[in-house]
Amino acid sequence: MSWKITSNAQDQSQLLVDESLFSQGNGYLGVRGNFEEGYAKDMKSIRGTYINAFHDIVPIEYGEKLFGFPDTQQKLVNVMDTQSIQVSLDGEVFSLFTGDVLDYKRLLHMDKGYAERTVHWRSPGGKEAEITFNRLISFVHKELFVQWIEIKPLSEIEEIHVESSINGGVTNYVDADDPRVASGHAKRLHVTDVFTEGDVSGVVDETEVSQLQAAAAVTLRAAGSVIDRGSSSDAESVRETLRFSGDQPIMVEKWTVFTDTYRHGDEVKHEAITRLKGLSETSIEHILTGQQSYLDEFWKTADIQISGDDLLQEGIRFNLYQLLQSVGKDPKSNIAAKGLSGEGYEGHYFWDTEIYMYPPFLMTDPAIAKNLLLHRFSLLDAAKDRAKEMGHRQGALFPWRTITGGECSAFFPAGSAQYHISADIAYSFIHYYLTTGDRSFMISHGAELLVETARLWIDAGHMKDDQFRIDDVTGPDEYTCIVNNNYYTNSMAKYNLEWAVKAMAIVKEDDPSSYESLVRKLGLEGQELDQFQAAAMKMYYPYDDTLGIQAQDDTFLNKQVWDLEKTPKEEFPLLLHYHPLTLYRYQVCKQADTVLSYFLLEDEADEETIRRSYDYYEKVTTHDSSLSYCVFSIMAAKLGYENKAYHYFIETARLDLDNTHKNTKDGLHMANMGGTWLALVSGFGGMRVKETGLHFAPRLPKEWDELRFHIRYHDRLIAIDMTTNQTEYTLLEGEPLHFFHHGEELELVSTAIKH
Ligand code: BGC
Repeated sequence: MSWKITSNAQDQSQLLVDESLFSQGNGYLGVRGNFEEGYAKDMKSIRGTYINAFHDIVPIEYGEKLFGFPDTQQKLVNVMDTQSIQVSLDGEVFSLFTGDVLDYKRLLHMDKGYAERTVHWRSPGGKEAEITFNRLISFVHKELFVQWIEIKPLSEIEEIHVESSINGGVTNYVDADDPRVASGHAKRLHVTDVFTEGDVSGVVDETEVSQLQAAAAVTLRAAGSVIDRGSSSDAESVRETLRFSGDQPIMVEKWTVFTDTYRHGDEVKHEAITRLKGLSETSIEHILTGQQSYLDEFWKTADIQISGDDLLQEGIRFNLYQLLQSVGKDPKSNIAAKGLSGEGYEGHYFWDTEIYMYPPFLMTDPAIAKNLLLHRFSLLDAAKDRAKEMGHRQGALFPWRTITGGECSAFFPAGSAQYHISADIAYSFIHYYLTTGDRSFMISHGAELLVETARLWIDAGHMKDDQFRIDDVTGPDEYTCIVNNNYYTNSMAKYNLEWAVKAMAIVKEDDPSSYESLVRKLGLEGQELDQFQAAAMKMYYPYDDTLGIQAQDDTFLNKQVWDLEKTPKEEFPLLLHYHPLTLYRYQVCKQADTVLSYFLLEDEADEETIRRSYDYYEKVTTHDSSLSYCVFSIMAAKLGYENKAYHYFIETARLDLDNTHKNTKDGLHMANMGGTWLALVSGFGGMRVKETGLHFAPRLPKEWDELRFHIRYHDRLIAIDMTTNQTEYTLLEGEPLHFFHHGEELELVSTAIKH
């Protein structure tokens, strides 16, 4: 069932989308699915290769710059292009846009981990060949990108030329009309070295301001009757040419290794060459076998199967696969909003990680999840500095968007004002503890982060009329900015405050000497934990008695309601058609806000309030952000709104494959991809992790006969198989455990239990 994504598109707009869909990556390196040979002259392509977190620093230009606005931002840099390969048959250069394309197909193999493109081409002069381009980014050797090209002559051909190039003189993509894409600073690199040493050639690039270097070292291997080979170079690029006699099939392998100063020390060129040489005895078959074993392991736990809908199944697998391709697996990196598939949001990390993309890893591969936490933890000092810069006397304020810890948001109402990101990060640390039971990580990292984020709330909020209030922040909904007492922010801050106290109690109980040193490190004053507890207890939640719902904030429900029905379709997303102030003046939501809090902290409100609120907010939500559908799907499932749950789920599953948000060309919507997992597992599976334990409340959509998934919890591996009449839980690894099925406590022992 559906392990392949296919396309035979040749038209401009779908090709741009396919560049994102067919991108290859491994969390360190990402290469867009561009054509090796390029496109027709007047065609547009976003040609890109990215190294996670490899960035330059660019100035932020403001019309009016006020105090505390960041001066600069980090920007993911498009590094050297090593994808390019030209093929000519008796002097006629192959292109999909000349001659005749007699057959064409492109495939992404999600079980084997590589992409393939086969063209049966007849040149304008009548030469025919079948040309297959394969490419793979290794999950085993993170620096390796390998391409192999097979050419089968299908007519008389005297000579076949293959020219491979490496170009260091690349630029980033800009679009001045779309705020979700960078509007300037395209050229961020210069070439410092172009080299050929024996059979290895390459380029070293350096960023303008951050002065990070990246190197690419390339070697070609050929099979077939080679007539000769040669190479040439200029100031920014190297080319290598192979001439073959055209009377038999040929194969050219292009092995490329990338390194960067951020991970590999200063000798990036030497490192790249050494690593490449280290692979000289390795074959493509060997790399494919390694890739397959890695993916077998991944899919064993991560795969989610549904029965009865192949297109949805394809979407589910695609989204999970792309999450794996995007997630940083070293402590220098995280998951960018577009992964490594494009330049939208400039390679920045947002709250998208903690709330949307981290949960699938936490529940299927906790080691990757832990790495994400370690990365955030490494930015804690920067978050403390940012809090100071923003006028706070204490605490950690994580930036809204960042790569290395500095705030990259230039539009503070919908950026820096989203203080909730600090509570979201705290939430992810708490859930790591609740899901893995890893007390030592709480001692070494979690407690410190929870205290520093809790301190922020104490400073940002204040007591009034015996209530703890947090003024002038923005919640997740970016169409409603700078408000007092955003319910989402207040509820998440409350959880953060409570858990700072609990975390310190865990440390004290488990390891009194670590407790003492942590207290010293934090300079924790005697009354601080009481202060956290009191603020949590007195946390104010705006509530509307007439409607019987939680108000999104103090003033949201007093505003005029935006008439969504009368808004022409072409005006969505509203952010591209209305001034922010217009949007702020209305009850209109870009995305789930209060409803999201009901998912993350469902015990903070009773079910009838949740239901009424859901009904209310659904009517004023545009889902202009792709982070919205999954939340509405999960909550609809909880409330028994079967059709809605299903409808919103469908929106998440194929959002990029069907380009429904119309901007997949700028990169994949990674948070939504995490949202697909959440909608399946926490929506239809009803899974929640709480202090009381592991909870399920399965509700299979009537459209399916079966939904199967796995989760890891406290060193157990559990298989969940939902069918129309029952759910079967099977303990595959680990000791028996108690869990809850629709509120009923059950014990899972080694055999399956059916409910
Ligand atoms: C959403 C944010 C999100 C960002 C990056 C915006 O459109 O409103 O919630 O963090 O995209 O994905």
